[in-house]
Amino acid sequence: MPITYLNGRYVPHKRAVVSVDDRGYVFSDGIYEVAAVQNGIILDWELHLKRLHRSLGAVKIAAPCSDAALRNIIHQVMAHNGMENGYFYIQVTRGVAPRAHAFPKKPVRPSLMVSVLSMKPPTAKEYKEGVAVITRTDLRWLRRDIKSISLLPNIMAKQEAVEHKVKEAWLVMPDGNISEGSSTNAFIVTQEGVIRTHPADNSILGGITRDVLLMLARKDGINIDETPFTCDDVARAAEAFLSSTTAGALPVVTIDGKKIGSGTPGPVTKRLIELFNEHCARQT
Ligand code: PDD
Repeated sequence: MPITYLNGRYVPHKRAVVSVDDRGYVFSDGIYEVAAVQNGIILDWELHLKRLHRSLGAVKIAAPCSDAALRNIIHQVMAHNGMENGYFYIQVTRGVAPRAHAFPKKPVRPSLMVSVLSMKPPTAKEYKEGVAVITRTDLRWLRRDIKSISLLPNIMAKQEAVEHKVKEAWLVMPDGNISEGSSTNAFIVTQEGVIRTHPADNSILGGITRDVLLMLARKDGINIDETPFTCDDVARAAEAFLSSTTAGALPVVTIDGKKIGSGTPGPVTKRLIELFNEHCARQT
């Protein structure tokens, strides 16, 4: 059984249990991170750590431990689980206190959990042939930039994707713009070869993979346009793809059953996959 870190102890995952008064359990009062491990190296760790601190600061939860201690915990979890490749999960909640909306009067210790995830990356076939997405209404709050554990609208949208046998649901905001996917960022490539994606403001989670892909694309001479796009823009696009820690860059070839561009992964997306793989390999 996997070993999980919870509040100072490494325990079999099934025994990693929290109080029913944990504010994460009662209010979704917490934040999280997901990062990838390749050949025993945590990929883009500094970027994940920076976002973790940003999320903590945004919801006014104190850091549960020093950065060095957190890194040590992650390495211990990796060692306990013999993890060379895969993904791990960090969750910090405001801690345990009797249920009341306001923060506990007397500060409590934040709860920290670090576990390995059994999530699998997309298959070789999915990278080669691309995946399908559907669109759904974006029902979320106005601080999607915080990596909050409060994910009910994301879960509902992802479940619809599963029930429609597609990879992801792209979320459409009231103004008609697509923000992102339920657990991934969304991109199109215009007929002119420009990558277009929603700017990293409060409407989306600023993905680490998104940032890395845009940086790599710019270095490679590919033009980027960080302005929102609509379903009509997708219909006119040459290519589309999605990104996340668990997917890297993954071609999207249909939306709501309609082909995007040629209906096959395009050259810009393929180049990004190559650049991203090289970026990961350079760290290991
Ligand atoms: N999801 N947008 C949303 C809403 C997400 O939940 C995620 C990540 C992303 C991509 O972010 P990154 O590139 O940093 O993984 C975008 C993770 C993987 C999850 O919840 O499991």
